[in-house]
Formats: sequence, structure tokens, C-alpha cells
Amino acid sequence: MSKTIFVSNRLPVTVSKHESGLEYKESIGGLATGLKNYHEQGSTVWAGWPGVAQDDLSEEESSSVADTLRNDYKCLSVPLTSDDIEQYYHGFCNETIWPLFHYFTSAVEYKKETWEAYQRVNRKFFDSVDPLIEEGDTIWIHDYQLMLLPQMIREKHPDVKIGFFLHIPFPSYEIYRQMIWRDEILQGLMGANLIGFHTYDYVRHFLSSVRRLLGHEHSLYKMQLESHVVQVDAFPMGIDYDYFAKTPTKENASQETMDFVKSTQNVRNIISVDRLDYTKGIPDRIKAFKQFLSNYPEYREKVRLNLIIAPSRVGIEKYDNLKREIEELVSEVNGEYGTFNWMPVWFFFRTVSQDDLIAFYRHSDVLLVTPLRDGMNLVAKEYVASRTDYKGMLVMSETAGAASELGEAIIVNTNDHEAIAAGIKMALEMPEDDKMDRNKNMHRRISRYNVKFWAEEFLNTLQGSPEEKIHTEPL
Ligand code: ADP
Ligand code: G6P
Repeated sequence: MSKTIFVSNRLPVTVSKHESGLEYKESIGGLATGLKNYHEQGSTVWAGWPGVAQDDLSEEESSSVADTLRNDYKCLSVPLTSDDIEQYYHGFCNETIWPLFHYFTSAVEYKKETWEAYQRVNRKFFDSVDPLIEEGDTIWIHDYQLMLLPQMIREKHPDVKIGFFLHIPFPSYEIYRQMIWRDEILQGLMGANLIGFHTYDYVRHFLSSVRRLLGHEHSLYKMQLESHVVQVDAFPMGIDYDYFAKTPTKENASQETMDFVKSTQNVRNIISVDRLDYTKGIPDRIKAFKQFLSNYPEYREKVRLNLIIAPSRVGIEKYDNLKREIEELVSEVNGEYGTFNWMPVWFFFRTVSQDDLIAFYRHSDVLLVTPLRDGMNLVAKEYVASRTDYKGMLVMSETAGAASELGEAIIVNTNDHEAIAAGIKMALEMPEDDKMDRNKNMHRRISRYNVKFWAEEFLNTLQGSPEEKIHTEPL
């Protein structure tokens, strides 16, 4: 029977080693959280890195990880060494591609060694997945860590359907052309039959880079190569709407979270939920909240900002520095505006369970989500879905992919602290019926275009992607 194989760097579960033994924890980040429930309910196999260095594990532990992942999570472990992690994951993925594709051009590092590691590790993924592939299978590769893999698979398995989805923005040609290995990366991607992005802007940017760098024209988002046709389209990723809308708070949230909810009932709560990442605009958000307290003193002692920030990519300097910057800003605001009875900003540096998140979302009057640049931002959708009473309001920056789908939110420019401050006030003061109307529209959209719809639409398009020759005219 033919099967669908997901391949991504991050698996839905991350393994870590402690003195007490091996620990298996749910991964966070949009790719893992978004696809997890779909994978659990379906019949996919998911190949990826377990999150721990192979050389930190004994042989026995390695095989126990591989067995547990296979038997309990339907996952295939792709083992990486600490050198791979340093050079490929920390290096090329997160110090080259990530900042470039998010328009942080001055943060990009170009190093031949990390590029070589990227090629080597993409090959490792190929070697791990290759024995699984049978005629009629569908391979769905995810994200920027594996952009060379589609072509590697195509060369050995010209007849399987290969899909690729980019979970981060594809930048404009003027940005993308700065990449030293720009042609090689595009050629890697062009091994796919179908390439998906969150928005039409990213589709346009990609097609423009392909045309200008590789010379391929497209006709109705399809490009004819010698070996196959490549189709490109936008598939805005959804969430597991029912899970966020229907999970009962009281039964599922932890006691600690319920205590938090109880103890903060006398103030208006603004919440922010992110991975610790410089693309998320967290320092600007804190500065904007400070501006809010300065501009609207009537809100002092009546509101609090809860930052729930998950550790991410520990060991990369830019990420480690960001934590210190946030801590300083938080204490600056608290020092300046706090009173003996009230602290304006609360910073929790931890990952909470999805059930606890739902409780936080439901309890918060406003979600403040202001990334400088974000492929989609699923947190925004999770918040809207969780507030089934339609009483919350979303303040979101225009540079999040989700902004193009959630136009009823209060949309702001993340660099404009005054505008964010005014946006917070507007959200807190919005009349109930206005909030209700806006939320109902957003609910309708995200309940229909949920993660199942997204995955099925992508996979159905991939199944139906053209095999025959198509005609392409220069634009
Ligand atoms: P990204 O993929 O860049 O991390 P998204 O907003 O698309 O951004 O996805 C983040 C995912 O990780 C969401 O599903 C969110 O619920 C989860 N997440 C983010 N921060 C936390 C946290 N502190 N605790 C638990 N889950 C988190
Ligand atoms: C973003 C990326 C994912 C990644 C996630 C978490 O969502 O698009 O590919 O898995 O961040 O980052 P991490 O480096 O921990 O996998």
C-alpha cells in the first residue's frame, strides 16, 4: 500500500538526555505543533532529527530512541552528530537561511564549512529516507532546513510525488540574491512536483527568483523542466481548530495555571506567546507596552502584560543575547511603572502545555503578537480559536503571514510603538458587539481552513500535479 512520508528537521517530539534518563517532550514551533495532530490521526510516517546529538547517546540509548520514536510516535529517527548540529542546524540553517529569509540581512553569516554541512546533512536525510521509499509513495518535505532534499530524492526516484512546503517567508528577489549559494538552493527545491508557501507574496518572490536566477518562466504557477513540471502555490497553514475551540479549560489545564487565572482576575490581561526569537519583535513589544503606560496612565494598576516565551535554539549567540535584552527591558518597565501592589510585565521563560496555553488564551483580554517578520504565526489563530466567547481581541503586526487572513484584527506596524500602544487601548475598549462581529468572521475562516484542510489541499494538489508537458510563455 502506498504511504505518505513527512520529512522535516524537527519531529513532533524532542528527545533530551538527563541523569535520570531519556525524556520525550512535545516539540514547539509552528511546523511541529501544526502538523502533530494531523500526523497522529492519519497514517503518515514522519522522518526527522530527534533533537539530541547522536554522540551524546550510547548505542543502547540510540536504538531505544529509534524504537520509541517508531513504535510510539510513527517517526523515523535521522541521527545527527554534534558537529552536524553545530554546523548545519546552528550554522547554515539558523545563522544563514533563517536571518536572510526574515530580512535580517546584517545578521547573516556566510561560511563555506556550514554550507558544506548543509549539503552533507541533507544527504544524510536522503540516506535515511531512501530505504523507506516505494513506488506510489508521496514524500512531503518541510521547511528551510531541507531545501536540497527534493532534488536528491528526484534523482533516485523520478516517479514518486515530491511536495515541499516552506514554513517561513520566501524573501523578495533583492534579498534572496544576496545568498551565495542561491542557484544551488533553488535547484534543490525544483526537484519537487509541488512547492507550497503560506502567502501569495512568497509565491511571487519565489517565482521571480527562479525566473531571474535559473531562467525558468511559469505559466499559471507551473514550470516545465526537462524531467518534470513544478507547480507553485499558496497554502495558508491552519490549526487544529476543534482542539483549541473544544478543549474544556478546567479539566485539562494544570492547577498552577488555574491558580494564575484566579489570581489575575482583577486586572485586564494582555498575553504574548512566542518562541524566543529575534524575528518575533519582543523588545519592540515591551517598549510599545511602556509607551502605552505612559500615554494612558488611567490603565496603570489595571492591566498586565504576560510574556510566555519558550526557550529556542539555545547556544546561538543572537538568541542568548535576546533573553538578556528582554530581561533588562522588563525590569526597566517594572522599575519605572511598578507599584508596591502591581507589576506591569510578567516574563515566564518556559514552555507550557497546549492545554495550559488554551487556559491562558481564554483568560486574556488581548493577544499581542507583533513579529518583525513571520511566515504565518499560528499563535494568532490559536488565540482566536480558543476564545469561543468572542470576547478577546488580537493586536497583530502586518508583517505576520497570518495578517493577510485575519484582517478583522487590529493590525499595526511593529516599528511604530505609538500605533501598538493605541492598538492595545483600542482592543481593551472595543465595544462587545464589534468584537463579537470581528471574532465570528475570523472563527468562520479558521474553522474551515484548519490544518486538516490545509494538509489535504496540499496533498490533493500534489497528487493531481501535472505529469504531461505544459506550455510556458515568457511573461
Ligand atoms: P514559530 O513557528 O516561528 O515558532 P508559530 O506562531 O507559527 O511560530 O508557532 C509557534 C507554536 O509554538 C504555536 O503552536 C505555539 O502554541 C507554540 N508555542 C510558542 N511559544 C510557546 C510556549 N511558550 N509554550 C508552549 N507553546 C508555545
Ligand atoms: C519555525 C520553523 C520550524 C522550526 C520551528 C522551531 O517554526 O519554521 O522549522 O521547527 O521554528 O525551531 P527549531 O529550531 O526548534 O526546530
